[in-house]
Order: sequence, then C-alpha cells, then structure tokens
Amino acid sequence: MTQKPWDGRFSLNTDKMVEKFTSSIDVDKALYACDIDGSIAHLKMMATQSMITQDEADTLLNGLEKVRKKIESGELEYSDTLEDIHMHIESALGDVVGTVARKLHTGRSRNDQVALDVRIYLKAHTQAVMNSLLELQKVIVETAQKYIDVVMPGYTHLQRAQPVLFSHHLMAYYEMFKRDYERFEDSLKRTDVMPLGSAALAGTTFPLNRELTRELLGFSKVSDNSMDSVSDRDFVMEFISHASICMIHFSRFSEELVLWSSSEFAFITISDAFTTGSSIMPQKKNPDVAELVRGKTGRVVGNLMAIITIMKSLPLAYNRDMQEDKEPLFDTVNTLKACIDIYTRMIPNIEIQRQTMLNAAQKGYLNATDLADYLVVKGMPFREAHSVSGRAVAFALSDVRELHELTLEELKTFSDLIEEDIFEFLSIDKMISRRVTHGSTSYENVGRAVKKAAKRFDLR
Ligand code: ARG
Repeated sequence: MTQKPWDGRFSLNTDKMVEKFTSSIDVDKALYACDIDGSIAHLKMMATQSMITQDEADTLLNGLEKVRKKIESGELEYSDTLEDIHMHIESALGDVVGTVARKLHTGRSRNDQVALDVRIYLKAHTQAVMNSLLELQKVIVETAQKYIDVVMPGYTHLQRAQPVLFSHHLMAYYEMFKRDYERFEDSLKRTDVMPLGSAALAGTTFPLNRELTRELLGFSKVSDNSMDSVSDRDFVMEFISHASICMIHFSRFSEELVLWSSSEFAFITISDAFTTGSSIMPQKKNPDVAELVRGKTGRVVGNLMAIITIMKSLPLAYNRDMQEDKEPLFDTVNTLKACIDIYTRMIPNIEIQRQTMLNAAQKGYLNATDLADYLVVKGMPFREAHSVSGRAVAFALSDVRELHELTLEELKTFSDLIEEDIFEFLSIDKMISRRVTHGSTSYENVGRAVKKAAKRFDLR
C-alpha cells in the first residue's frame, strides 16, 4: 500500500472500477425469470435438433429450475465480476450441474439473449399495463355514470367558457386512456417478435430451429434479420414513448385535480385516505397523489429522452451502449403502472361538490355564446350576433350582473329580436341540452357515450 489513496494501487482500483462500471447486474437481475425461460426453450430446441442429448437437456433443465429457486430464495450472490444476469445464471448452473452447463450457450450470444429477455419482459409488462389501463377506464366510466348530470364550467385558456357536464369532462380522459391502451396494443405486436438464433449478429452455423424456439416461448413471429434482431430497440423506444404520452394525460388530469381541490375552486374533495397533511400547518390537506403523479411525468419523459439518445447514431449491430436501455425501461414500467393503479384507487374516493360547480357555471357569462346563437336562430348573421352579445356582456359587466340577470327591456336595447323566451334559452339546462352534434355535451350525447363505454366493462 502506498501513501495516496490512488497512488500505486490506482491500477488495481481502476480494474475494479471498470468491473463495477461495466456491470449491469444491479439492474438486469430483474430479468432472471425471462432469462431462465429463454434458456429452457433454447435447451429443448437443441435437444430436438440433436445438438445435445436428451439426458444433457434434462440435467440442464433441472439445473435451471434449481437456479431459479436459488434466485427466488435470495440464496444466489451477485457480484460485479459476473457482469450481468446472463453470466450469473450460467455460472450458477455450472455450480449445480457441473461442466455440462457449458453447452447451454451453443449457437447463442448474449446479444440475442438479452434482446430476447427484454422482449419477454416487455410483452408481459405491456399486457399488465394494458390491463391496468382497462381498470382505470372502468372507474372513470363508473364515476361518469354516478355524476352523469352534474354541470360545471368548461374552460378554455383556464377562463370560464361554456357550461359542460362533469361526466363529459371526465369522459375526455376516458378517450385519452383508451387511445393509450390502443397504442400499447399496437406496439405489443412489434415487441412480440422472437430474436433468438441471431447469435452475435450474423446468425449461427448450428442447426437451430428458430421456429420451434418461437413456439415454445409463445411469440407470434421470428425476427427476419439477425443484425436488426440484436440491435433493434424500437420496441423499447415505442413503449417509453407511449408511456410518456400516457403520463402527459395523467399530468393534465392531476393538474385539474389539484386546481379543483383548492379552496379557490372547491369543486371536489379528495378523501382523507388519499391526501396528506402538513407538518407545520394544521389546516392543510394536500392532493399529494395527484401532485406526485404529475411530478413522475418528468421521470418518464426523461426516460424517453434517455433511450432515444442512447440509440441515436449507434452503428449496427450490438453496441454496449444498449445495456443502458434497461434502467429507463424498468423505471418507466414501474412508474407508469404505479400511477395507473393509484389513480384507479383514488378516483372513486373523490367527492364532487355539485352545487359549487353549478354556481361556477352560472357566473362569468358562460351563456354569451348562447345569446348570440339565439339571435342567429331569430335570423341575425352570426358575426353581428356575436357583437350584439359582446355589447350586452360589457353592459352587464359594468353593472356586476350576469346576462340572465338583465331585464327584458335592458336586453331589448341591444336587439329587438330578443323576447321573453330568452330567459329559458339561457338557462343551464337548455344550454346543455342544445349541444347535440356528435360528441357534444348534451345529456343525450354524454349518456350515449357513457352507456357505450359502460358496455365494454359489463357495467349496468
Ligand atoms: N449486459 C448486456 C446488455 O444488457 C448483455 C449483452 C452483452 N453483450 C456483449 N457483447 N458484451 O446489453
């Protein structure tokens, strides 16, 4: 040992650092089951192809199950020396069955092995995310059913615009999450491709039956180009990209929940079980779940930046850079799943303050467009009607009244087309009911949309 910490011993330390630096075991140990399943299929295929004897295959298959148990019981020790999960499993297999373990890696490279493992992992997790998204859509529909006729102000520029049904607003998120589901369903097709048999990059000289391996692993198709197979991470980029869009939806939803639960809006009350307090201000009840989901959007979008930057400019075929794909992928899967599940639990625990929402919809001239529409019905061109209604709003504003609080005589000063029926015309109920084009907020339309969605989940 020398005086300075890095003097003399530095070369030895550097070796250890490189070992630590290049090791991925801390992250890719999550792939152990996928790796073992992939090896099992590879072994069975090799036995069928007489590349190994049935006896050898049985020994190795048994051994792999023992390794699986060792990992699951926490018995297997991980070390940076063995780099990654693939080498750990192979080495553990050697400890269990002896030198025959060395036959496992015939016709295979870690390059096609890791591509396979990640695809097995992502197929399962995409399906899990899709299932969670369905559950979320279901609670959204149930909530829309529960509050089907609650009226609230609809906003543009976060300024009160026109009255809408709360259920209509909520169903907008149903549409977003439905599209998210469809995006995952679509990328799943491209994840569901079996790369094993591509070996390092050029394929292999051994008589592998890739079709059999595919069948054993339950993939839909075999990859067509060995160089693409070992270097393709499109399916990872696609998943994280879809996840980012989904998280953007959550961040928008969260922002609304945060706003609506503030005393300024007071549109909703989130159950105590889904809020937290302040360590100094006794009155506080904070919408932390919504805030954290909003914040976690940053992680997932960050993961998207990471993966697309990792892949940028990589020459064919495999490059070690690609080892960096797993952290962003696993983090995205875990974060997205957690956000979907917590929302699914939280939504039924939100109480709607229907009177506050209704009051808000009746203040702020949300019926100004309808006054213009009224004049159009009576024969005035829309541009002129818009201006007439605008003048009426300006007058009402100056007197701190709403349009429907003006007298008929006052309204008539803006246009003598205005008659007694204007007051019913400007009522919330009528404003909602008149919005009948497909996809609009009328009771009938929203009722139909909710019913159609409810059918998907066998609700009512
Ligand atoms: N741990 C590696 C990864 O995740 C496995 C493939 C290693 N291949 C290699 N040629 N070093 O990408």
